[in-house]
Amino acid sequence: MLDIIAEQVDKSDVEKERPNHLILAEHSIVEEPKQRGDAGGGLPKHKNSHLEALTERHTVDSMTESWLKFGKDPKFIIMTEKQTVLVTGASGLLGRSIVSELEKNSGFTIIKCAFSRTRDGYVKMNLLNEADIQETLQRFRPCAVIHCAAERFPNKVEENLEEVKKLNVRASEVLALEADKIGAFIIYISTDYVFDGLNPPYSEDSVPNPVNKYGATKLLGEKAVLGVNPANVVLRVPVLYGPVTSIEESAITVLLKAVREEKPQLVSDIEIRYPSHTEDISYIVHQLLKLKLNDTRCIHGIYHWSGKEALTKFQMVKVIANVLGLTASHISPDRDETKLSTGPLRPKNCQLSAARIDDLGIGKHTPFSDGILCALRKHV
Ligand SMILES: NC(=O)c1ccc[n+]([C@@H]2O[C@H](COP(=O)([O-])OP(=O)(O)OC[C@H]3O[C@@H](n4cnc5c(N)ncnc54)[C@H](OP(=O)(O)O)[C@@H]3O)[C@@H](O)[C@H]2O)c1
Repeated sequence: MLDIIAEQVDKSDVEKERPNHLILAEHSIVEEPKQRGDAGGGLPKHKNSHLEALTERHTVDSMTESWLKFGKDPKFIIMTEKQTVLVTGASGLLGRSIVSELEKNSGFTIIKCAFSRTRDGYVKMNLLNEADIQETLQRFRPCAVIHCAAERFPNKVEENLEEVKKLNVRASEVLALEADKIGAFIIYISTDYVFDGLNPPYSEDSVPNPVNKYGATKLLGEKAVLGVNPANVVLRVPVLYGPVTSIEESAITVLLKAVREEKPQLVSDIEIRYPSHTEDISYIVHQLLKLKLNDTRCIHGIYHWSGKEALTKFQMVKVIANVLGLTASHISPDRDETKLSTGPLRPKNCQLSAARIDDLGIGKHTPFSDGILCALRKHV
């Protein structure tokens, strides 16, 4: 089923190059349709070469509807076939934010894919089932896939490496192969944990060297997606926070627990993080998507984005307490480096430099104090 939007536009807009559009009519030539399904016979249609997929029947129905919508004296009506964008992990922390950002763009039909948390409007796709990936991509034939789904908790990756590889690596590869078959591209969300954190800042060209299995699987996923088609896009981001369903959902919002528990405790003051707001990342994904859809050659390969503020968890706790008007006097900085060896290794400072996105002029930064206040207000 084609999804179409109709707009009444000026002559200057008609002359613009737009993908997937059909210029319906100039008012001096159009006759009022006599009945639904009759678009006024003899109507001049200027077909854009990209629009072969638009069926005649749909065109006639949509023309009639557009005519009724815009009244008797439209100058030009342009009908544009909506572009279908499929988002994996649409029920997750970042996926939800990307969906709501893309929903601001009326030119997209968004296919929201989730696995265990499907609700109305979501499509269930199990990325561990290759046939399911193939069937879903063939069914919706998106022009772009934003691939957010992954196992991103380092402890879970360590515990269940072989199963996680199927999701973080093999499913990414299959998704890229199936996307390639239908001429779609992938924007693969990756992580700063592909670096060892010993020699920051890291540019898009820096050599990755993950110190834990989570970073290693995400790096293999990157390689798989770019190996299928180097025109695909990888966006590496650091630790995320934003609107959460529970504070445990983000490694940043969960720090509220330490503030609430008013008993003496230590919070790490060693590893440096650059918390990034999901709305900033979603905005950048949206801009990358639009640029790539306009000119598929201009956007490809690896991009970085990162929050600007360098903070340890201890420093974040202080900010959280401050913006929420709570006390953090019971929390002390933990500077004991020997504790770093417990659990999966965490890189010390993976600061990402983001020259390629800066050059495109599409960056967005929410100050940490503003973003964390919005994210946590309803959880206090
Ligand atoms: N969160 C961070 O701090 C952070 C930092 C850097 C990079 N990243 C990267 O950003 C991306 C998004 O992360 P996130 O924080 O939004 O993750 P998340 O909240 O943990 O969400 C993971 C998503 O993956 C889906 N999923 C899991 N198993 C699946 C399966 N078998 N088939 C289909 N879907 C499946 C989940 O669907 P259901 O819940 O419906 O099952 C969920 O929507 C990931 O690639 C991650 O590596 C995250």
